[in-house]
Amino acid sequence: MSFPARRRIEPESAAIVPPPLVSRGPGPSLGVQAKGESMPQAGKHLPQTGLNLAPDPADPRAYRTALGRFATGVTVVTASEADSGKPLGITVNSFASVSLDPALVLWSAARTSIRHAHFSLASAFAIHVLGAGQADLALRFSRSAANFDGLEIDLNPQGVPLLPGALARFECLAETQHEGGDHTIIIGRVVRFTLGAPAAPLVFAQGRFGHFAGDD
Ligand SMILES: Cc1cc2nc3c(=O)[nH]c(=O)nc-3n(C[C@H](O)[C@H](O)[C@H](O)COP(=O)(O)O)c2cc1C
Repeated sequence: MSFPARRRIEPESAAIVPPPLVSRGPGPSLGVQAKGESMPQAGKHLPQTGLNLAPDPADPRAYRTALGRFATGVTVVTASEADSGKPLGITVNSFASVSLDPALVLWSAARTSIRHAHFSLASAFAIHVLGAGQADLALRFSRSAANFDGLEIDLNPQGVPLLPGALARFECLAETQHEGGDHTIIIGRVVRFTLGAPAAPLVFAQGRFGHFAGDD
């Protein structure tokens, strides 16, 4: 029995596979509406599409653009600084559920971040899932770790600052950490969670905040 030959496509850092000849036209709308707050893009021009590329750390633009096609929710992770007890926050979209039993969740902290040391040392932290009306919080904690001005925070029994108004909140004890290249994967055991009032989630995709169309 013979099988049809298969073409093997090797990833390259330069264009070797031409774009598909068949145009599929515009795809279906994802139904995500950008709200106008956009993060800086790596470059002005969109990378060429339809190429078969290998990630290139010297020019991460195309790779980051590809990753940005994956829409995520947005969270703010809070903890208290180990020495001073000062409240800290960081905007994070790497949050994921790992295990239901036991209840484990993860997020990844960039090793280049000045916040990395504090969050990787924290014995407890809280993850706040943001609603569509909370892009200001996401921007606030992407710019400054310690800007809690005007926010009414509570402290949980572990001394972790809790923000009001999240769609959902997961209070965690630090369980394990794993090195993941230029990030540290931080796994927490959820000891308490809170369901906020039902509302549309904040969405992050292609470098922009948005929400599902129809959630207005
Ligand atoms: C939507 C969004 C998602 C982010 N996700 C992460 C993340 O998962 N992990 C991380 O370490 N930083 C993440 N960041 C970056 C941090 O929020 C923050 O901007 C960065 O730590 C700033 O650098 P600094 O800590 O050195 O001040 C994200 C930022 C935005 C706007």
